[in-house]
Amino acid sequence: MAGFTAVILAAGEGTRMKSGIPKVLHKVCGYPMLFHVINSAKKAKADKIVVVVGKGAGEVKKAFQDEGVEFVLQAEQKGTGHALLQAKEAVKGSENLIVLYGDMPLIEPDTIERLFEFHIERQPAATVLTCIFDNPYGYGRIIRENEKVIAIREEKDASEEEKLIKEINSGIYCFNTEKVFSALKKVRNDNRQGEYYLTDVVEILNSEGEEVLAFKVENSDEVQGINDRVQLSKAQTIMQRKIIEALMKEGVTFINPESCVVDMRVKIGRDTVIYPNVVIEGETEIGENCTIVGNTVIRNSKIGNNVEISASFIAESEIGDGAKIGPFANLRPGTKICKNVKIGDFVEIKNSSIGEGTKVPHLSYIGDAEIGEKVNIGAGVIFVNYDGYKKHKTVVKDKAFIGCNSNLIAPITVEEGAYVAAGSTLTKDVPSKALAIARAMQENKLGWVEKRKKLFEGGEN
Ligand code: UD1
Ligand code: CA
Repeated sequence: MAGFTAVILAAGEGTRMKSGIPKVLHKVCGYPMLFHVINSAKKAKADKIVVVVGKGAGEVKKAFQDEGVEFVLQAEQKGTGHALLQAKEAVKGSENLIVLYGDMPLIEPDTIERLFEFHIERQPAATVLTCIFDNPYGYGRIIRENEKVIAIREEKDASEEEKLIKEINSGIYCFNTEKVFSALKKVRNDNRQGEYYLTDVVEILNSEGEEVLAFKVENSDEVQGINDRVQLSKAQTIMQRKIIEALMKEGVTFINPESCVVDMRVKIGRDTVIYPNVVIEGETEIGENCTIVGNTVIRNSKIGNNVEISASFIAESEIGDGAKIGPFANLRPGTKICKNVKIGDFVEIKNSSIGEGTKVPHLSYIGDAEIGEKVNIGAGVIFVNYDGYKKHKTVVKDKAFIGCNSNLIAPITVEEGAYVAAGSTLTKDVPSKALAIARAMQENKLGWVEKRKKLFEGGEN
C-alpha cells in the first residue's frame, strides 16, 4: 500500500491554556502532548513526519530534536489552513497527507492506520475523521449530505441549527496532497476569528466537484482536543487509566488505581503491589514482588525485585533486590543501593553507593560516599561532605560500625571492620579493626548535686 506523510500542526497560541509554556509542551502522563501525537504517527508507519511550529518554536524544536521529525515554521499564527500551507515544500513528493493537530495526545496509531486504509480504498480528495460527541461545544460541526461531507462549520461561525449537530471534526484528516494545496490557495479569512481555516477546504473541494468523506470513529476519548487545563486534566485521567490497566493486565496490583500517577514509559514487574497515592514518573523500572506504599514518589529510577518502599522520595537512583526503604527516606540523584540494604526513617542519601547488607536505619545524611558491605551506620550519623566551597568524598569499608551521632568530616576513610565510638567527630582516617574515639572524655563529679544544693539552699537536708 502507498504511504503517507504526517503533518502535525503545533504552532498555535494556545491562549486558552493561560500559560507561559507553549500548549503542545504541556504534559500528559509525563510527556508533552506533542510527543504522544508524534509517537502515534510513528507507530502508524508515517513515511515522514513534519511538525509545524510557531509559538515557542525554539522550545518545541529543542524538546523534539531527537525524534527524527522535520520542522517548518509558521511565523505568524493565522489559522490551521495557513499552518498547513507552510508545510508545502516539506511534503513535496508524497501523494497522501495525514494532518493531525498537536493538541490531541490521545489519538491511537490504529485509528490513524484505519483512516488511511479507508482513504486509500475510497480515493476521495479528503477524508475527515469524525466522531459523535454528546457535548460537541467548541468543535467544528460536520455538515453532511448522506455519506459526503460538504462543509465543516466552526462553533463560532455556526448557526443555531448547525450547533445542534453532534458529529464533530476531530482535527485529523487524510488528504490528496495536490488537491488540498490547490484548495488551500482559495481559503479566505472572512470568519469570526479572522483566520485561514483548514476546515474551509472541505467546502472548496466540494465546489470543485471533488469528494470529501467522513471516517467516523466510536471512541470519543481518542479525539479530545486540549485547549485548556480542564481538558488537559481529563486527557490525563483517560491516559492514566489506560496505562494502569495495561500494567494490571500484566500482573501488577494497584489497590486504588485512581489515586496513583504512573507515567507512560514506567515498567513494573509481576506481583508488585502499589498502594494508594504512589507517583511513579519518567523512565522508571520496578521489578517483581515489590511493595510500594504511599506517599511515595519514584522518578527515573531502577528498582530491583522484592523491594519494600514506604512513604519515601526516590529520584534518579538504583535500588537492589530485597532492599527496604523508608518510611520517610529521601534518596536523591546518584544513589545506588545494593541488595538487602535497609534504609530507614529520615535518612537522606545523595550521590552515594551503599554495599550489600548495609543498614542505615535512622536519621542520617549520607552525601558523596562509598559505603561497603554489611556496614552499620548508627542513628544520627552525618557525612560532612561540604566545606563551604567543595564537596568531598567519604569511604566506609566493609563491616565497619559507625556509632550513633558521629560526624565523618570528608575527605575521610574508615577502613574495613573499624569501629567509631558514638558521638565522635572524625577528621582522620580510621585504620582497619581500630576503634576511633573523637569526643571529650566523660568525667563524673562525685557529690556535686549535694554541694550545689548547700550553696543555694544553705544547711543540710
Ligand atoms: C480545531 C478545528 C475544529 C476541530 C478542533 C478539534 C479548525 C479551524 N478548527 O479547532 O474544527 O473540531 O480543532 O480539536 O481547524 N494551529 C497552528 N497554527 C495556527 C492555528 C492553530 O499550528 O495558526 C495548531 C494548534 O497548535 C493546534 C491545532 O492547530 O494544535 C488546532 O488549533 P486550535 O486553535 O486548537 O483549533 P480549535 O479551535 O480547537
Ligand atoms: Ca484544539
